[in-house]
Amino acid sequence: MGHSMHCGNCWITVVQLLCFWDLSSGQIVYSVSEEVNKGTVVGNIAKDFNLNVQELESRMFQIVSGSHNKYFDVNLKTGSLFVKEIFDREELCMTSQKCSLNLEAIAQNPLNMYRLEIQVLDINDNAPSFHISDHTLNITESTSPGERYPLPRANDADIGSNSVKTYKLSPNEHFILDIQSGGEQSVSSEVVLHKALDREKQAVIRLLLTALDGGKPAKSGTLQIIVNVIDVNDNSPVFSKPMYKVRVSENVPIGTPIIKLNATDLDSGVNGEIFFHLIHHGNQKALDVFQINPATGEITVK
Ligand SMILES: *[C@@H]1O[C@H](CO)[C@@H](O)[C@H](O)[C@H]1NC(C)=O
Ligand SMILES: *[C@@H]1O[C@H](CO)[C@@H](O)[C@H](O)[C@H]1NC(C)=O
Repeated sequence: MGHSMHCGNCWITVVQLLCFWDLSSGQIVYSVSEEVNKGTVVGNIAKDFNLNVQELESRMFQIVSGSHNKYFDVNLKTGSLFVKEIFDREELCMTSQKCSLNLEAIAQNPLNMYRLEIQVLDINDNAPSFHISDHTLNITESTSPGERYPLPRANDADIGSNSVKTYKLSPNEHFILDIQSGGEQSVSSEVVLHKALDREKQAVIRLLLTALDGGKPAKSGTLQIIVNVIDVNDNSPVFSKPMYKVRVSENVPIGTPIIKLNATDLDSGVNGEIFFHLIHHGNQKALDVFQINPATGEITVK
């Protein structure tokens, strides 16, 4: 701020000007936590600037500038600088690590200007959160243990130890969590396949990832992880019986149903589709007499 601003409409003496420069160079720094109640005393202006408390009123001491002067005021009877409006560090300073507000105050007769800086300290008023509510992983059941899958990161508007510190994974037999900590503000996690998957035992595995901040007490946020176990053709078709026996009279008409075979395959999709066909086993003639429907497994007289 230019000094001329305070001299524009007054004949200021050289003595006053020197005095003004002198005082304005000394700056008092206060610290106060965000979200403190209205009326919280931040410091004593009269004491810290060496002013006579009795003169504050007559010298019309007031906070004059700074974009944040609505949050603070001075009690002219006591010299206390106090909180006038509750403020939120994340609203004032967004993601900045340092959050300080600069204020200027003046007193008349003689005209003096005072600069003060208020450092706003972080409290753990924000919980970690994920941008999404669930995250899907498609993992083939033949995947070898040791394979890694990066997971989305949680965000926390707080800074330092109040930001995301670690992650936890719900107990399960297939995956373990690996946490990478690349310094402040950059903790991320990966799931590592620990025990091989088997789609025929469990086709979908649901896990819960919890992000925790370093506050005391810690705040947390969660993300659902849905693992779709993708089928590979690892199962053969199996008949419902090792042997089917059936009696049939000679001379039955062509097309007469004899028996319907039944087989199942635990795999899914095309890997689980079954087609029937007959192969000869000893008696060559059998294939001339009987036929099987490839889709239904029904054997009829040919
Ligand atoms: C997983 O597979 C489903 C179905 O095939 C597909 O719609 C989805 O996009 C896949 N997701 C990922 C993350 O690969
Ligand atoms: C085939 O066998 C399975 C199990 O053995 C049974 O659940 C199914 O109902 C059978 N299907 C037919 C068409 O007989």
